[in-house]
Amino acid sequence: MNKQALAQEKDQQDPLAKFRSYFTQNENEIYLDGNSLGKLPIQTKGVIDNLIEEQWGKKLIRSWNDHWLALPKRIAEKLALLLNALPTEIVVGESTSVNLYKLIHALVQSKQFPNQLITDSLNFPTDNYILEGISHQLNLPQPICVGYSTDLKADLDRLRETIQKTPGILCLSLVSYKSAYCYPMKELNAFAAKHKSIIVWDLSHAVGAVHIDFKQSNTLAAIGCTYKYLNGGPGAPAFLYVAKPLISKLSTPIQGWFGHRRPFDFSPTFEAAEGIEKFDAGTPPILSLAALEIGLDITLEAGIQSIRKKSESLTSFLMSLIKEELLPLGFKLESPVELSERGSHITLSHAASWRICQCLLQGKNNGLKIIPDFRPDKYIRLGIAPLYIGFNDLLLTVERIKEIILEKEFEQYDEQRPTVT
Ligand SMILES: Cc1ncc(COP(=O)(O)O)c(C=O)c1O
Repeated sequence: MNKQALAQEKDQQDPLAKFRSYFTQNENEIYLDGNSLGKLPIQTKGVIDNLIEEQWGKKLIRSWNDHWLALPKRIAEKLALLLNALPTEIVVGESTSVNLYKLIHALVQSKQFPNQLITDSLNFPTDNYILEGISHQLNLPQPICVGYSTDLKADLDRLRETIQKTPGILCLSLVSYKSAYCYPMKELNAFAAKHKSIIVWDLSHAVGAVHIDFKQSNTLAAIGCTYKYLNGGPGAPAFLYVAKPLISKLSTPIQGWFGHRRPFDFSPTFEAAEGIEKFDAGTPPILSLAALEIGLDITLEAGIQSIRKKSESLTSFLMSLIKEELLPLGFKLESPVELSERGSHITLSHAASWRICQCLLQGKNNGLKIIPDFRPDKYIRLGIAPLYIGFNDLLLTVERIKEIILEKEFEQYDEQRPTVT
């Protein structure tokens, strides 16, 4: 069977095919950046318009009691379903960076673990900045950043060796933002526990694309964003998870009124909420939460196991096309080949990566535009959001990249990347 027929057959047999129509589709465009910002669900606009007109516009302050106060909890319940947590173990709100700050700070102050902060060279920069800031503010030893010889994969022996030698509080991204490398979560949690350490998992590049089970993996702490595979919208609220037995041992570093035991008593002194709500700080962002709920509902409707299955199938298909068509043209595969070791994006590199991305974005003669994602210095990330990406999209992408190289189309762009893009 030729590739076109194969892609078509796979799309026809896709049990998640209907979800494509749940999202807005720009004409003549393939969107491969859902691992940075997910697409807009069609339903979101109507829900937000209605919320603005009816709840904000007409019912004003009364909407807090009628609708809004219940919203963060309802979303936490839905996230708990997705991640197999208790609803009382999750709060939504703030950004991933702020939640990571709250959580790491709380873990340090709890003295439940050695105060050595540890990260690695695959982690997203904000996580490393946060660890560095906290160690400075709390006079801790300099954080350890476990370095690897490549961005492709973690060297697990090296990571384990570090934990063994200097136990402490780790922060790792379950799916690495550059290569999509996915750590063995359960195994590392067990290793950390054995060495009196804890791992705070950053799930930003994993949630909504990878099957995560907090209970099965004995995960104690996590944070993550919702604007990528959960399609919550730009700046959608992040989440924070702490396993039940640990909650009572932690105190939030930000004593805001929403983290108070009885916020609406307006008491002059702070008394932290007993449960996970202690990590709330201020008024929840209602418009963003309402948008997030739509994205989350779609993910729950599709089912994370089906989403992961399709993601595996799509990334495997793309990998085989890349091996056949693009590696002979000077491309290098920068994502793990092993299925269980990768999330839902595929990364490539080429000497002309940045210029190739410009060609994809531009389209040929106003034809098909493909939206990839460039990460310095050389990475082209192709984000595969299984809810709205199909097999034919991937075939068209590889054919287009091939064309850009064979016709030397990329040469129309300067080699030098502008400093701000
Ligand atoms: C893995 C990871 N962690 C953290 C962040 C930062 O999240 P936020 O902007 O919500 O703080 C990102 C952003 O893309 C990310 O990919």
